[in-house]
Amino acid sequence: MTFTYTNPATPTPNPALISDQARIDFWARQARDRLTWGRPFSDRKAHSFSKPQSLGTDEQGIENFTVPEIKWFEDGTLNVAYNCLDRHVEAGRGDKVALYFEGEPGDRQTITYAQLLRRVAQAAHGLEKLGVTKGDRVVIYLPVIPETIIFTLACARIGAIHSLVFGGFSAEALRFRVEDTGAKVLVTTDGQNRRGKVVPVKAIADEACSGENQIEHVIVVDRTSTSAQERAAVPWTQGRDIWYQDLIEGLPESHDYQLFEAETPLFIIYTSGTTGKPKGLVHTSAGYLTQTAYTHALLFDLLPEFEDETGARRVDELASVNDLAKVEGTVHWCTADLAWVTAHTYEIYGPLLNGVSQVIYEGTPNTPSFERHFEIIERYGVTNYYTAPTLIRSLMGAFPQGPEPGKFDLSSVRLLGSVGESINPEAWRWLRTHVGGGSASFIDTWWQSETGSAVCSPRPHDAQFAPAGTFPEGTPHTTPKPGCANRPIPGVSVRVVDEAGQPVAPGVQGFIVVDKIGPSMARTVWGNPARYLDSYWRHYGERGWFLAGDGAKLDEEGSVYILGRIDDVINISGHRLSTIEIESALVTHEAVVEAGVCPVEDDLTGHQAVAYVTLSEAGRALSADELRAVLTEHVRREIGPIAKPKDVVAVADIPKTRSGKITRRLLGQLYQGQELGDCSSLQNEEALGAIARVLAGR
Ligand code: PRX
Repeated sequence: MTFTYTNPATPTPNPALISDQARIDFWARQARDRLTWGRPFSDRKAHSFSKPQSLGTDEQGIENFTVPEIKWFEDGTLNVAYNCLDRHVEAGRGDKVALYFEGEPGDRQTITYAQLLRRVAQAAHGLEKLGVTKGDRVVIYLPVIPETIIFTLACARIGAIHSLVFGGFSAEALRFRVEDTGAKVLVTTDGQNRRGKVVPVKAIADEACSGENQIEHVIVVDRTSTSAQERAAVPWTQGRDIWYQDLIEGLPESHDYQLFEAETPLFIIYTSGTTGKPKGLVHTSAGYLTQTAYTHALLFDLLPEFEDETGARRVDELASVNDLAKVEGTVHWCTADLAWVTAHTYEIYGPLLNGVSQVIYEGTPNTPSFERHFEIIERYGVTNYYTAPTLIRSLMGAFPQGPEPGKFDLSSVRLLGSVGESINPEAWRWLRTHVGGGSASFIDTWWQSETGSAVCSPRPHDAQFAPAGTFPEGTPHTTPKPGCANRPIPGVSVRVVDEAGQPVAPGVQGFIVVDKIGPSMARTVWGNPARYLDSYWRHYGERGWFLAGDGAKLDEEGSVYILGRIDDVINISGHRLSTIEIESALVTHEAVVEAGVCPVEDDLTGHQAVAYVTLSEAGRALSADELRAVLTEHVRREIGPIAKPKDVVAVADIPKTRSGKITRRLLGQLYQGQELGDCSSLQNEEALGAIARVLAGR
């Protein structure tokens, strides 16, 4: 059944969804039509949101609030994995390719929905055999290989909570996640293929599990061992460790799924906040799936079209079912590592819920050469290429004039997408010209680990992208603008406001808030609901607006531009890291007494971290080069290679406000030789001059 609404052609607010009830009805219809339910949810329980309530002001003058509680489709039950796999197979689409896997060394697998279902069933039995049940946590520390998706869905199938950890993270970063989740099982590999080399992984996993934790079993996927001898050489703890192949040996390839409540936690995703420790955002099942399936369909062009009264073709933006021909014609490729939220939503759950074929690629884009992505696009006929600005900039650096003419057939590409940071207009134009044939749609999707799925984005069918005749002449439309996240999706609304919550004028920077949330919003911070309140809801208190932590502005047409973080979060290659987290890592080194880390602009990665440190006696004994080498290595080990500071500057004192807060903005301005902002609140203003002299003397 296809719904025929008038396509909202003007920017927000979406006229059809202006009232709260219309918005809830919209999401309820998406949830009913897009998901298969065990017990349907009732209208009465479609949504509840207890906004923060004031608890009065304490002796220090701080107003306290209750922690907000969000629920969607609360009295319904479903099975997440059934929705991703079984129902497609039951509908006769079992032979449809789910995954085209390409390993970095060049190995390939084509896995259909029916095959993926069988492998997930076996893994689900395997987890159950190890005693994993509903609510248990499983940490998945794997590269981009089919087993990562298999274990993710196997957890979902049995009601266990998965937490994926980026394979490039260090033992310390993994240890934190293993301990914070209280995971019972860790899934890892023997090794990883990285930039043409085999890198051992199991020893890192062992180190992460060496402290106090709840780990009972470590499942090891054989990714890089090529012989029995190599397997025998992998470090092993008898009784705890088990090879994946041994675990699933002889287990049935079908698995009776159970139904779980809509609000059952599905996964924990760690993200950097403004304090030293990452926070584990908790996403639950049905609401997350609903907004994920809908936004994947809306933004990756799966929605049906209709003829309007003038005979022009329009996309039915509020449709709750997809156009099957579009689903069949899609080969999706999201290039993110599976552990990031981008991939949870638009590489694992979105594409599988919507039944499309997709590519997953294990390796880096420049191995063995920067042409690897073009080869993959050609080989699988990729139609949707969804990637990060930093990757686009590195392709642009390698091929300023685009790939060699005639060498690759990229004509399958119809839709380009970017996520993770603002895209600069040059990179936008380069990708559209050289990979998108000059005419592909371009979605710039703004969202976060917290929002679970896209919040603002241009539509693929916005007028300028659409073939002639799509929109009637004179239709008011939003024009795609490079670097602009455009407007919210239906069913969600945002505002750009000042500190006090007043709207800012066009062109003026304010804070972006989500004033009407969608169902995929994170429900809490794992083990720390107070942090959930403090980080996101406290600022606008009883208004119940979600503070996203990004600066933004609107243009005259009401389109949203994202202007980067307003807090101590730094965005390196689209990866979120906290400056305080890097500082905390630095001060654990014997050479360092105190550290201040700031972002500085970088042509390739958007930003890089620069570390200012004051030194202990041990530190003073090192030369500048030695200091840089030991401290970058230390951060690599403590957090991971992406957090490595680009530079380390030894200073006598770090500038701080009177309340003792490190002024990271000033540190960045000093490093980049920019004019300094307001310094009046400093307790040690003289530190600035001293730092300027150190920098000038290098
Ligand atoms: O600063 C924004 C930036 O990435 C942050 C969210 O990071 P994370 O939770 O890791 O999720 C990344 C993938 C969804 C945001 O607060 N960001 C994300 N997308 C964009 C963006 N900045 C500008 N434009 C975007 N399209």
